[in-house]
Amino acid sequence: MSLFRAHPLRTTLTALLLGASTGALAQAPALTADSLSLKQKIGQLQQMHVEAKTAAEIPEELKAAIRNGQVGSILNIPSPEVANELQRIAMTESAAKIPLIFARDVIHGYRTIMPTPLGQAASWNADLVEKGARAAAVEASSMGIRWTFAPMIDISRDSRWGRITESFGEDPHLTSVLTVASVRGYQGDSLSDPTSIAATAKHFVGYGAAEGGRDYNVTYIPEPLLHNIYLPPFKAAVDAGVATIMSAFNELNGVPASAHDYAINTVLRGEFGFDGVIVSDWDSVLELVAHGYAEDKKQAALQALKAGLDIEMVSTTIQENLPALMDGGKVTEAELDAKVKRILDLKHQLGLFEQPYSKGDPAKSILTPEHKNLAEQLALESLVLLKNDKQTLPLAKGKSVALIGPLAHAAHDQLGSWVLDAQKKDSVTVLDAFRQVLGQDKLFYSQALYSSRSRDSKDFAQAIDQAKKADVIVYVGGEEAVLSGEAHSRADTRLPGAQEQLIRELKKTGKPLVVVIMAGRPIALNDVIDEMDALVMAWHPGTMGGPAIVRLLQGDADPVGRLPVTWPKVTGQMPIYYNHPSSGRPASEGNFTQMDDFPLEAFQHSTGHKNHYIDIGFKPQFPFGFGLSYSSVSYSDIKLDKKSMRADGELKVSAKITNTGKRPVTETVQLYIRDLVASSVRPVRELKSFQRVTLKPKESKRVTFTLRSSDLAFYNQKLEHVVEPGEFHVWIAPNAELGMQTEFSVR
Ligand code: GLC
Repeated sequence: MSLFRAHPLRTTLTALLLGASTGALAQAPALTADSLSLKQKIGQLQQMHVEAKTAAEIPEELKAAIRNGQVGSILNIPSPEVANELQRIAMTESAAKIPLIFARDVIHGYRTIMPTPLGQAASWNADLVEKGARAAAVEASSMGIRWTFAPMIDISRDSRWGRITESFGEDPHLTSVLTVASVRGYQGDSLSDPTSIAATAKHFVGYGAAEGGRDYNVTYIPEPLLHNIYLPPFKAAVDAGVATIMSAFNELNGVPASAHDYAINTVLRGEFGFDGVIVSDWDSVLELVAHGYAEDKKQAALQALKAGLDIEMVSTTIQENLPALMDGGKVTEAELDAKVKRILDLKHQLGLFEQPYSKGDPAKSILTPEHKNLAEQLALESLVLLKNDKQTLPLAKGKSVALIGPLAHAAHDQLGSWVLDAQKKDSVTVLDAFRQVLGQDKLFYSQALYSSRSRDSKDFAQAIDQAKKADVIVYVGGEEAVLSGEAHSRADTRLPGAQEQLIRELKKTGKPLVVVIMAGRPIALNDVIDEMDALVMAWHPGTMGGPAIVRLLQGDADPVGRLPVTWPKVTGQMPIYYNHPSSGRPASEGNFTQMDDFPLEAFQHSTGHKNHYIDIGFKPQFPFGFGLSYSSVSYSDIKLDKKSMRADGELKVSAKITNTGKRPVTETVQLYIRDLVASSVRPVRELKSFQRVTLKPKESKRVTFTLRSSDLAFYNQKLEHVVEPGEFHVWIAPNAELGMQTEFSVR
C-alpha cells in the first residue's frame, strides 16, 4: 500500500517531507507557491488555543480560521472529541488538508500526576523520570495530544522564583541527565508511535535567572556563564533529539529571548545544530513591543522571524504582518518555506498525515494501576529526609499519630502546579494513607488551618488537644500548589500564614514533632527548624503522595531523595547555589563572627572581612545533594588510577562506601571536581557524575567513576570550549559540602 493516499498537494508535500525525512532534502521539490498558497504557508506558523470542553463549544471563528488554512497547531485540547472535530475540519473542509498538531502542558503527568519536576529531580533517578514521562505520554496521547511543552529545563538558583517547581533545579549536569530522560520518555523510540508526543525543551534561554527571582523579570547572563550553566541542558536536549524548543519570555542581556538572533540562530541552530521547530511562548512575540524592543507588531513579527522562530503561540503578529513584510522584501519566500518545512516535517514524523485522528482509548490508558504505582514510587524517591534528631523516624509500629496541618488532607494541593487535566478525586492524601494503616484509636487528625496561607489560629486549641492524645505529631504543611508556578514568585519564602506559630504550639506539647513540607520551593526555616525533631521535604508529591509519605514515615521504605537545589536558611541569602566561584575572600568557620557576638563599639575591622552575611553566615540550611537515610554511610579510601592525565585522556577515581547502620541504604554517590586555577575563575565544586548504590547493613562497595576531558572542559572568556592544564580537586561525596577528596593534574 502506498505510504500516502494519492493527492496532488499531498504528493508534493509528501515528496518534500520524504526528502526531508530521508535526508534527500536537496533533491526534494521546493515548497512551491502552487503547492501551498502564501496564506496557507503562513497559517502553519500560527498556533491558536481552544477554550471548549465539547465539540459543540468550539468557537466559530476558530473553525473558520482552520477552514481558511490559518492555523497549524492548537494548544489546550481538552478531549479527543474536540481534537477530532477540529482535525476533521482541517482534513475535510480546508484546501490544503494539512493535519493540525494538538499540544498541551503535560508537565508532570496528564491525569496520573507525578511529583513536580523539582521533586522528581530529588530522586536523582533518570530511569524513573523517563518512565514518568512515558506514562504521561501514553495518557496524553490517548486524549488526542501529540505535543507537550515539557521538559522545562531552566536552571534556577533562586527559589523566590515560582517556576523553580517546574525545573530540575540548580545544576547543569543533573538537569541535563533528567532532560534526556524526559525527552526519551515523552518521544519514545519513534515520534510516529501513536503513544509518543513531541517534547519541548523550554524556555530558551536564561528564564530561571530572573533578577530578584521575580517571574518575567530581566536577566543578565554574561556569555561564559550562559554557556557553562544555562545552555548545557538545551544542548543535551538537542543531542537527545528533542522535537521542539520554546523561546522564553525574559529579556536576555538587553534582547528579548523570543527575538534573540545570537542565542537562537548562532548558538541553538548554529553551534548546537538544532533543526527542529521553535515555538514562541504565549504572546511572547507580541510582548516584544512591551519590552521596548519592537516599535509595533510588524517589527515584532519581523524580529521573531529573523531570530529563527517558526511558530507564534496565540498572538498573531506574524499572520497579520508577514504578507506585507514579504511584499517589502523583508522576509523571503525561501525563509518562510524553511519554517513551513520544519513544521510539516514534525507533522510527518508524528505520523499525522497517515493518521490525523486520535484513536487512543483513554479508559485503557489513564490512571492505570501501573501508572499509579509508578507515581507512588517516584513520589517515594522524591522525598528528602532533611532532619531526624533522636531517630524520631521511622515511627515505631503501633505508635499513635496526631496528624495535623493544612496539607495533610489536601487532595488538590498535593498535586502541585501545572496539572491542567488532574482531578483531585484521584489523589490519595496523607490522611487517607494513614487511615489505611492506623486504626481510629491510633490516628487523631486536625487540619488546624483553613489553608497554608491562613493566619486564623481559632482551631489551634483543637489541634493541640489532638496532639496530646497521640505518641507523636506529624505536621503536614508548606505551600498550597498555587503559591508556586508561573507568575507566583515570593519575596519571603518562609512558611506562609500562621504555620510557624502552629509548629511552635505543637512543640510545646513535648511530643516528638515530625514535619512534612509540601511546597514548590525550598522553604526558609531558620526561625522554626529547631522546633522540629524530624523534617521531610515532599515537594508537591502528586496523586500518590499520601501513601509514599506514610510508607516512608512508617519505615516501610527508606529515604533516598537528595536535594536538587541548595536550601537557604533565609530568603535574603538568595540567589544561593553550590557551584559558585570562591571570591577573593572565601568565608569559613574560622573567620566568621556572628553579629550578636560583636563586642559593643567594636572597631569596624574587628570581624572577618569575608564573603558572608554577619547575621546568617555563609552556609545554606542544607547543601545541594543532601539527604539523610534511616541508616548511616561512610566514605573512605578514595583512589585514583593515575595522578595526572592528558587533556584528552581519562582517569578513574573510586572510593569505598559502607553502610555502617542497621537498615539497608540506597546512597546517591556524587562526583565533584574543582579546577583550582583557570583563565576564568571556576566554581569551588562542579557535579560531574553520580551513581546510586544499595547496601545491606555493614556492606561495603567500591564505587568507581571515569573522568574524561569533556568533564573538565569549560567555556573561557573567549567562549572557547577548553580543558586547561593544571591542578584539580576531585571528591566522591554524599553532597556538595562533604566527601572524600583527592587531587590530580592535567598536563
Ligand atoms: C505559559 C508558559 C509556558 C507554557 C505556555 C503554554 O505562559 O510560560 O511554559 O508552555 O504558556 O501554556
